[in-house]
Amino acid sequence: MAVIYPHVETLLSFLFFLLTSSNASAVRTSSAVSTRSESVDIDWETLGFGLVHTDYMYITKCSQGGSFSEGELVPFGYIEISPSAGVLNYGQGLFEGLKAYRKVDGSILLFRPEENAARMMMGAERMCMPSPSVSQFVEAVKATVLANERWIPPPGKGSLYIRPLLMGSGSVLGLAPAPEYTFLIYVSPVGNYFKEGLSPINLIVETAMHRASPGGTGSVKTIGNYAAVLKAQSAAKARGYSDVLYLDSVHKKYLEEVSSCNVFVVKGNNISTPAIKGTILPGITRKSIIDVARSQGFQVEEKAVTVDELLDADEVFCTGTAVVVSPVGSITYLGKSVSYGGSGVGLVSQQLYTALTRLQMGLSEDKMGWVIEIK
Ligand SMILES: *Cc1c(COP(=O)(O)O)cnc(C)c1O
Ligand SMILES: *[C@@H]1O[C@H](CO)[C@@H](O)[C@H](O)[C@H]1NC(C)=O
Repeated sequence: MAVIYPHVETLLSFLFFLLTSSNASAVRTSSAVSTRSESVDIDWETLGFGLVHTDYMYITKCSQGGSFSEGELVPFGYIEISPSAGVLNYGQGLFEGLKAYRKVDGSILLFRPEENAARMMMGAERMCMPSPSVSQFVEAVKATVLANERWIPPPGKGSLYIRPLLMGSGSVLGLAPAPEYTFLIYVSPVGNYFKEGLSPINLIVETAMHRASPGGTGSVKTIGNYAAVLKAQSAAKARGYSDVLYLDSVHKKYLEEVSSCNVFVVKGNNISTPAIKGTILPGITRKSIIDVARSQGFQVEEKAVTVDELLDADEVFCTGTAVVVSPVGSITYLGKSVSYGGSGVGLVSQQLYTALTRLQMGLSEDKMGWVIEIK
């Protein structure tokens, strides 16, 4: 056919070029996204925080020194990777985490996704990886959420957790940046972290092990930071605590953060949180809570916070995408325990949790311009 009608084939490929190039979306779909509106067989009432497989994941690759091209939505499933991939051997990888909420009117909301994109770019620079641009990241997140739309819990029943990954997928043997990189996004419906209202967690201050050190990678969401906290976390859980609160590795007296959450200390009308100095993960919930608290008249300070201030606080709470705001019921430090908020949840924690979750779910006016509606 190519021999007999060469001009027809040229015309066809030109038409195909027109069709594909005029499509401004950052995504190709390998198979029709046909399942979008079908319902799923899930009991939304009992939905927890474990992985639920959905229909599609987003994937794109590029070489070292290159840039990511238009990605693809492919059926969710295993990926093939060389045993000598950079990510498997040397931990060259980053992750992100954000959520999409379904609003009562049916629309879908994302919360500050460009902040996750910017954080991935900063992390990629630290880990010698190419990164998707902010707009490419945000477009890819939107496309992945829309393709898995039927997995977004109904309003009030939870959210669609979005997990972008950036990894050195190319093969290396000697220590060096991988020759190829993969940017992938998968999603999973998750229930509300606290089903029956906020419930306080009990933390133990870790004095022997540290999460990060100056000059290290504590401020980036690199995968290696998380396997490293499992030991202290498991030991704490075995002793009945919810998680570990880390101290700075130099003076061993200033607060850093919990394994995957930032920490805040409330005293009267003052709220303080450890300043971002390279060893603490710059949480987007942390940044948002600082602004929300200030808008509500609290005096918020980012500074070095001592264990003494922690033990003397009226209230303590943690922040992160999964929990949003998690009140702390007690802190144990060197065998001594201090309780907060009586037996219930501190008023400030409750107030900030309500304010931020209402914003994220589209239930209050978004004066900050933080919420993006998709679709
Ligand atoms: C992700 C993360 C946080 C919270 O960041 P958010 O952007 O609020 O989800 C805090 N600490 C660590 C170590 C984290 O990995
Ligand atoms: C709040 O902070 C101010 C200074 O920033 C201080 O003068 C005041 O005593 C603090 N209040 C409490 C209750 O700690």
